[in-house]
Amino acid sequence: MTTRTYTVDVIAGDGIGQEVIPAATRCLDAVAALHGFGIDWRERDWGSDHYRAHGAMMPADGIEQLSDGDAILLGAVGDPQIPDTETLWGLLIPIRRSFHQYVNLRPARSLAGIASSGRPIDVLVVRENVEGEYSEIGGRFGSGEEQFAVQESVFTRRGITRVASYAARLAQSRSGRLTSATKSNGIIHTMPFWDEVVRESVAGTGVTLDSELVDALAARFVLKPESLDVVVASNLFGDILSDLAAAVAGSIGIAPSANLNPERVHPSLFEPVHGSAPDIAGRGIANPVAAIWAAAMMLEHLGEHAAARTLEDGFTSALADGIKTRDIGGTADTETYTRAVLDRLTSAPSTSAPSSTPTSTTAPSSSAPTTSAPTTTAPSTT
Ligand code: NAI
Ligand code: MG
Repeated sequence: MTTRTYTVDVIAGDGIGQEVIPAATRCLDAVAALHGFGIDWRERDWGSDHYRAHGAMMPADGIEQLSDGDAILLGAVGDPQIPDTETLWGLLIPIRRSFHQYVNLRPARSLAGIASSGRPIDVLVVRENVEGEYSEIGGRFGSGEEQFAVQESVFTRRGITRVASYAARLAQSRSGRLTSATKSNGIIHTMPFWDEVVRESVAGTGVTLDSELVDALAARFVLKPESLDVVVASNLFGDILSDLAAAVAGSIGIAPSANLNPERVHPSLFEPVHGSAPDIAGRGIANPVAAIWAAAMMLEHLGEHAAARTLEDGFTSALADGIKTRDIGGTADTETYTRAVLDRLTSAPSTSAPSSTPTSTTAPSSSAPTTSAPTTTAPSTT
């Protein structure tokens, strides 16, 4: 019997988003039925086709339309014919910023059945998601030989404090170790400020903090990933390190992410890390693991911990049984792999009892700050 229903906005978006998101929603419907809740899908045909038809990636009141939902599931945004500045900045980035999704949580974990490129990895990258290096301040100046471009970074005390505090709570729920990515030897204003505010935010939490230059840290992700657990990083560094972590774990096709508004004032957004993959779009061969894993993170966020575990068990056991797509060395297409996951979901024991211990992919919802990190508007500059 359905007792709870969640309203989830689905933006499959561009390219393989149209292939991996239906795979994820089928799995979610199945797992919801097993665990006695319902999902009310609100399909949004936003993206590059919407842009071609209407001159905008989403309707003018798109953000408002999403604002009363429980969560958002997004595929990918990006089209070879349209500049990324139009597509990403017309849809994904406005959602992240309007809804103060200042944490971009990106797990990278070696999974049975996927040959990782090196040593086993089990890392959570906490990427700052609304400010930092990805700002709109700057421009092109001068002309000819004298032309130059300026791009400013914006780091606020509030922005660093809230993301570092979130990462510290996550570390408390895991190994108690937190690594912060810096570049304070080369970037002499923002990065020493980042280091200082991260240190202050972590002080007194019992978490052991180590701060490492991002270039050396990148090498450590490859050479000694087992020495890392939770990593907190600025917008740019976190973007790059998490793609690297995904590659170490096996493929960008398996990497999920959650764009979280930890205060839960606004909906959070769940998406694969990968883009629209125009090189393979439309062929039915995209790996849906990242989208399905992102869907499991969404269930965690919604408090459906047992259902999240059923879904994780389903997609990991299909991989462990050797059913996998080409990007990770298998022969299955998107449909074959998705059916394999669905088969394993229906045969999974129904564990509808609420669990007290969340899985490692998301922070415990009970630790979401309600008072310590007030939700205020994002800096107008970003
Ligand atoms: P991409 O992630 O789309 O593809 C990189 C490579 O990985 C390609 O060879 C692709 O075939 C492969 N790949 C990615 N996901 C896969 C999957 N699920 N299964 C199998 N193979 C997979 O990155 P790319 O090519 O740099 O970007 C393409 C477009 O996507 C661009 O317009 C870019 O701006 C956009 N993009 C959007 C993102 C988002 O919506 N969050 C994130 C990254 C890129
Ligand atoms: Mg990236």
